[in-house]
Formats: sequence, structure tokens, C-alpha cells
Amino acid sequence: MSGPQIPGLALRNPVIIAAGCGGTGRELAAYSPLDALGAFTTRTITLNPRPGGPAPRVVETPSGLVHSTGCPNPGLEGFLATELPPLVQAGARVVVSVAAASVQEYAELVRRLGRAPGIAAVEVNLSAPDAAAHGLFDVREPFHMTSVLTAVLRELPAGIPVLAKLRPDVLRVVEAARTAVESGAVAVVVGGPQPAALPDGRAAGLSGPAVRPLALRCVTEVRAALPSLPVIGAGGIGTAADARDFLRAGATAVQVGTALLHDPTAAARLVAELASDDAALAGTAPAEPSPPVRPSRPVQINTDPSQEQPR
Ligand SMILES: Cc1cc2nc3c(=O)[nH]c(=O)nc-3n(C[C@H](O)[C@H](O)[C@H](O)COP(=O)(O)O)c2cc1C
Repeated sequence: MSGPQIPGLALRNPVIIAAGCGGTGRELAAYSPLDALGAFTTRTITLNPRPGGPAPRVVETPSGLVHSTGCPNPGLEGFLATELPPLVQAGARVVVSVAAASVQEYAELVRRLGRAPGIAAVEVNLSAPDAAAHGLFDVREPFHMTSVLTAVLRELPAGIPVLAKLRPDVLRVVEAARTAVESGAVAVVVGGPQPAALPDGRAAGLSGPAVRPLALRCVTEVRAALPSLPVIGAGGIGTAADARDFLRAGATAVQVGTALLHDPTAAARLVAELASDDAALAGTAPAEPSPPVRPSRPVQINTDPSQEQPR
């Protein structure tokens, strides 16, 4: 079974664990064998250890999770010593999610990260709606993204592809995706947490079923404007039917996040269900990296409710 194509990153299949939602990997491995997944994205790693933000960090709503974790993690050295080796040993395709407080810190982080063996790709977390509240670099404008990605690309060994995880701003997602690819990212992740607030008013992200239609819209828009750019869809994906919607809209692969917190078998189930669906596995994105801006090609979206997949 050949997986979907992202330049430099051979995914086994289109199902990727979303950053921060698979723990260190050990927690998930009993439910979703890591070597059977398309890839495993780590929680976001920073240069120095971070304890994370104050409680409550995650609050359930009727249609998803509101969260502001502050990216708790053991810092780069702790990650390299304790979390990366078991992931590599378990046969995971490891995508390391990274964030930093400044462009300089991004550069230092990936310079050291790039020397570690077993990293399939780096995902730059440009999407956190609560970044500023936690002292992380807040990407608001395209030039912020260009600064970060340019520094990351300069410092990482050429063999490690860079994925840009974009803010899920439906109105500006195409602009952001164009900036990302022009800055050297090989693929974009769209549809991450929407800006929201915890009940006490702190800045947070909203994930889960509530954001799925917004995420699907992001995939559709980017696919139409930048047909040759691999797009990874994320946002409320929990069933094979959800994943197929994203793959039909042009996603090369999908990330599963919130669904895992309710059901840690969700990713394994998705892999099994999509395995019986060649069309979904093939995805619809191109295999070749090519110029970012090209004439749009029609996007096939099913608008006939009678044709909807049962959920
Ligand atoms: C509890 C929780 C923790 C998260 N931690 C991270 C993180 O460390 N880094 C990151 O880039 N995204 C993080 N996310 C966002 C997810 O990776 C994903 O982009 C988002 O939740 C949308 O997908 P979903 O609706 O399937 O959860 C987190 C989400 C949740 C619910």
C-alpha cells in the first residue's frame, strides 16, 4: 500500500496524529500501533522545558474542546533524551511540532533538533490562538510567518521537510498558505484550533466537531487556489466519513486530534476503514512539488444531501 505523497515525507497512509493529542506516544501505542499510522506528530516542543499554563487547561463543550495548555513539554534536550527514542523504536514516522518565543529561538531549536536521528519532518506550530498568552511567537501577519519559516529552513538539514501549521483563519488561509510555500514549507496543515476563550475569558483554542466545517472550507479554499500544494486537513475529524470529506476536498492527509481524547482507538479505526477505500487512500493531491500559484482546478464537493455518507 503506497501512502500519500508529501515531498520528502513518505506517509504510510493519510492518517496523522495531531500535535498534542497523542501524548508522548506511549499512551496511544496500545490503541493505535504507531507503525501503522501515517505519521505521529509530537506535542509542541520548545527549546526550554515548560510546565504549561494554569488549570483548567481543557474544558469540554457540547461540540468540542476549548483548550489552552501552554505547551507543557520537557524542552528540546528532555524530548531528545526521553520521548523521541521510544517513538523511533516503535516505528513511528515522527513529525516534531515546534514553537518558540522568537525567531532566534526557533533557529536555535531546529539547529539542535535537526542533528537528532529519526525525525521524518518538522511541523512549525504557527496556529496557536493562545500563543501570545503563553509567551510564544504570535503569528498574525504573513511577514511573521516568513521570518519564522526562513529561519527554520536555514537551520534545518535539507533532508528534513517542513510543514507549516497555519492559523485556521478562513478568510486569510489562502494568503497564509501562499506565504508558507513561498517561504519553503512543503505542505500546510489547515484547520487547527479556532480562536476561542475558556469560561474565565482566557485566550484558548476550540477544536473538535464544531470546527470541522470551517476546516473543510480551509482545505477547499487552499486546494482551489494552490492546486499543487499538499494540504493536510485537521479539525473535528473522527470518522472515516469525516476523513473522506477532507480527502475528496483535496486534502493529501488528515490529522486526528480531539477524537483521540474521547476514543484512543479512533486513529487505528480510521486507518482500517480507509484501507478498504482505495480512492481515499490515494488522496487527490499531486505527487510533485511545483510552483505554488497555478490556475485553479475544479474542486469536487458533494452538495446533494441525498448523497451524504452516513455518519
Ligand atoms: C488537548 C489539546 C492539546 C493540543 N496541543 C497542541 C499542541 O501542543 N500543538 C499544536 O500544534 N496543536 C495542539 N492542539 C491542536 C491539535 O493538534 C489540532 O490541530 C486541533 O485540535 C484540531 O484538530 P481536532 O479538532 O481533530 O482536535 C491541541 C489540541 C487539543 C484538543
